[in-house]
Amino acid sequence: GTTAPRGQRGGQGLPSALPRLLRVAAALDVPARWSGRCCCCSCAPRARCARPSPAAGERQGRGREAARGARAALTRERRCTVERADAALSYARFVERFAFSRPVVIRGLTDNAAFRALCTRDRLLAAFGQRRVRLSTANTYSYRKVDMPFQEYVEHLLEPQDLALLGSDTLYFFGDNNFTEWGSLFQNYVPPPFRLPGTTSAYSFGIAGSGSGVPFHWHGPGFSEVIFGRKRWFLYPPEHTPEFHPNRTTLSWLLDTYPRLPPEARPLECTIRPGEVLYFPARWWHATLNLDTSVFISTFLG
Ligand SMILES: *[C@@H]1O[C@H](CO)[C@@H](O)[C@H](O)[C@H]1NC(C)=O
Ligand SMILES: *[C@@H]1O[C@H](CO)[C@@H](O)[C@H](O)[C@H]1NC(C)=O
Repeated sequence: GTTAPRGQRGGQGLPSALPRLLRVAAALDVPARWSGRCCCCSCAPRARCARPSPAAGERQGRGREAARGARAALTRERRCTVERADAALSYARFVERFAFSRPVVIRGLTDNAAFRALCTRDRLLAAFGQRRVRLSTANTYSYRKVDMPFQEYVEHLLEPQDLALLGSDTLYFFGDNNFTEWGSLFQNYVPPPFRLPGTTSAYSFGIAGSGSGVPFHWHGPGFSEVIFGRKRWFLYPPEHTPEFHPNRTTLSWLLDTYPRLPPEARPLECTIRPGEVLYFPARWWHATLNLDTSVFISTFLG
């Protein structure tokens, strides 16, 4: 169904300078920037955004270290251990090799240039700014829903992930879409052409800040595509329950847990960019991390 993945942000008692440092880090590498808004590094004197807040005090050292880790996590182009394919992949081959057995990243399967043009910040705000959207907390099991005007979400909540916040305290816009109100937009989305026998498809659309994401969870099969921004995926087969805390963010998992994993316990992982879709089979565990402010859409096959 269209159930939004759940995630949580892990509170780690980190200093208040961190959100700003993260924002700086996140601004460094943005191939397809969604936000028309200036970030502090492009419109303020460099000194202003490079210096942590004096209020951070004695926690500064730890904050700097964490921010460095977060910055590396968001900017480094990591390996891709998910199989890749391109538009030459036939449906028969997709069914035989991937549909029921392993994820795949397929480049050039859809062309959503027209949809992308409708999804810029200005166009979405002009068309849907006053519409209410339903947000979910970003945690794995129990999650809260909050309704607010789309414009308010974009202007006040669409921030880089704050490392000091729990997933259960972070609001994420993904899924719970009103297809009546947003129908004029979604009819322009070109979904991946591959279907599984006996399934119907349902869209789940969202927008979220850099460093945000949902922690490990699983559900039925589907495709995920980014329209703006990059999204990193971590996947485990159904028989391998990952080590993670359901209330902590993917970012905190990546910084704290991932480095301790022995090689054989590492997930499959890949960063997808606009023009690529990732297919996940049923019941595969997955966590996501938006490396940039991202606009994304999934096609769930259920
Ligand atoms: C979707 O929007 C329509 C039109 O504004 C409204 O009548 C309907 O209740 C909404 N549906 C949900 C599930 O919120
Ligand atoms: C996660 O957060 C929820 C909501 O705040 C809470 O009820 C639950 O006990 C927490 N789970 C764990 C494992 O800490």
